[in-house]
Amino acid sequence: MCGNEMDRMPNWAFKTMSFIFSIGDFFQSPDHRLDAFNMREGQTIVDWGCGTGRYLKQASELVGDSGIVYAVDIHQLAIEAAVAVTKKYNLKNIHPVLTDGKSVNIPPQSADVVYALDMFHMVSDTKGFLTELCRITKPDGVLFLEDGHQPRALAKQKVNNSGCWEIIAETKVYLKCRPISQSM
Ligand SMILES: C[S@@+](CC[C@H](N)C(=O)[O-])C[C@H]1O[C@@H](n2cnc3c(N)ncnc32)[C@H](O)[C@@H]1O
Repeated sequence: MCGNEMDRMPNWAFKTMSFIFSIGDFFQSPDHRLDAFNMREGQTIVDWGCGTGRYLKQASELVGDSGIVYAVDIHQLAIEAAVAVTKKYNLKNIHPVLTDGKSVNIPPQSADVVYALDMFHMVSDTKGFLTELCRITKPDGVLFLEDGHQPRALAKQKVNNSGCWEIIAETKVYLKCRPISQSM
């Protein structure tokens, strides 16, 4: 297996994760999770590592019919989950996209906001991952990157070593980054 294949969890693990998330979401709705990302009508959004698709409904509503939400994941079950959410809520602007972890079929410099929540710790080739995210982000776009299950210092080191993102703010749960080219 190559690094990206190792990043993909087995089906049983994905299903277990889905079950655990559904219980957590029952007690605490995920519907306001994206509030801090300042997403607006008409924007192009990328939910990288969309998992069970628990943030897609809110993302879809925030950008409206004139916007686009790419739901990207390395796991086929996540793509199926994104399709199911899309059908359940009759969302018109969701585009599920399967990635091999190295590249994704999204046009260059098209995203206003990319968010990657609870998944950065799962990525083995962090430089390749961050480079691909940079490729699809507009020069004035932003990336919200959660540490995932790793120390903040390690997450920051990976971002800084990528050479393509500048950390412009941080909260307890995520780093806010912009493409380096914008700041030069
Ligand atoms: C713990 S789940 C989190 C899902 C979602 N972001 C959330 O917060 O509910 C991590 C997801 O990231 C996906 N993933 C892991 N590595 C990835 C990669 N390199 N590219 C895209 N998705 C990846 C996994 O398949 C899984 O669906």
